[in-house]
Amino acid sequence: MNPLDYVRKNTHTFLDELKAFLSIPSISTQIKHQPDIQKAAGWLRDRLRDAGIPRAEVLPTAGHPVVYGEWLVDSTKPTVLLYGHYDVQPADPFNLWRTPPFLPTIVGDDIVARGASDDKGQLFAHVKALQAFKATDGAPPVNIKCIFEGEEEVGSMHLDPFIMAHKDLLAADVAVISDSHILGKDLPSILYALRGLAYVEVEVAGPENDLHSGIYGGAVHNPINALCAMIARLQDEQGHITIPGFYDKVRDLEPEERAELAKVPFDREAWLQEAGVTAAWGEPEYTIVERTTSRPTLDVNGIWGGYIEPGAKTVLPGRAYAKISMRLVPDQDPKEVARLVSDYLKAIAPPTVRVAVRNLHGGKTAMVPRDHPALKAAFRAYTEAFGNEPVFMREGGSIPVVASLQTHLGIETVLMGFGLPDDNLHAPNEKLHLPNFFRGIETAVRFYQYLSDYTPESLH
Ligand code: BES
Ligand code: ZN
Repeated sequence: MNPLDYVRKNTHTFLDELKAFLSIPSISTQIKHQPDIQKAAGWLRDRLRDAGIPRAEVLPTAGHPVVYGEWLVDSTKPTVLLYGHYDVQPADPFNLWRTPPFLPTIVGDDIVARGASDDKGQLFAHVKALQAFKATDGAPPVNIKCIFEGEEEVGSMHLDPFIMAHKDLLAADVAVISDSHILGKDLPSILYALRGLAYVEVEVAGPENDLHSGIYGGAVHNPINALCAMIARLQDEQGHITIPGFYDKVRDLEPEERAELAKVPFDREAWLQEAGVTAAWGEPEYTIVERTTSRPTLDVNGIWGGYIEPGAKTVLPGRAYAKISMRLVPDQDPKEVARLVSDYLKAIAPPTVRVAVRNLHGGKTAMVPRDHPALKAAFRAYTEAFGNEPVFMREGGSIPVVASLQTHLGIETVLMGFGLPDDNLHAPNEKLHLPNFFRGIETAVRFYQYLSDYTPESLH
């Protein structure tokens, strides 16, 4: 039997196992789910063992553990570092889920559960591809190292120190990550760029105590009003960011790249519907595809203070808060951008309030050379598994480890996603389209096979 026949024969078992994985609520941001993080890590290690990976272990970090796997078969063949994350986002708001988030449910051709697409289903596709090699050829055609982390959804804080402390263990010729989506069910895409992220929290302090807005209103500056006015000065009405220096390091899109991106299939009406909006917004001189993938952004992710319970309360509150994040593009640096926004907020703060800015987390931008040989293996694999040639594309989300692998291990990453744009990542009713899961396994099998034609050196 060949590995692809094995995959076709075992779809039911694979699906049952995926359900078991998805039923563990491994939410990295919530302390109460710490035992579930441990459980998911142990479960995944056991599946690596089932897949025939001779060395599979749970390794500690300063935060949630890493699941490590190693299968070295032939030193003349390339070594691939497979990255994924077994942690998931919180499932709130629960009332908007049509089925319970940790009770994986098949709905039509989809499996619905938190983490189905991001990233448990996608990383599991690779694990099953490896198992198919074990069951048929006895071993994969290339050397494999796996690193599955438990903190991706909270900024991968402890991963960099882990990578730096384990450079020899993780040494490889190229990395592969399936933690993104393709353009459509039959329209694969290979990503060559991801945005970075700078995330800050702002506190604006006014009066020491909440005040009666009738007694003091008009003569004491309301910190929520002040914060809103400050936020309004971060961006103009067309979406250009007005923080001094913000665009200094932004690499302009070359005309050739704009021409390439313009060829990416894009249906404006379908996009509006998918987003649930009636009109697009943002920098008019850029297309929607460019705005969402290749341009930096600034979004207020949350704003609070004062009275927000039902009914009215006439209060002049003492504090106001906002969470603000910026998606970054090459060559912006997260720390530098966080400093720029922090300096600017303090500079424009009226003398009537006090402003504090905290840096929450960040992630570096990533760019992979489009002519990297490993992308050719991915190109062939996608073409055969999906029946169409993949399109080269950039994405707006962030996977901070890509830059870390370049910096600390000197390797490039193949960004080979199997999700769909409407998978509801980080939202209620997250799903994975099952045909994509199985085609993902097939793509992974073929990718490893084609990659074995290359020498390790040719991938550097
Ligand atoms: N899977 C996503 C990243 C992604 C989404 C890539 C869509 C391409 C397209 C990942 O799990 C994620 O959500 N990452 C965070 C990173 C952040 C916490 C540093 C993100 O992008 O918000
Ligand atoms: Zn993810």
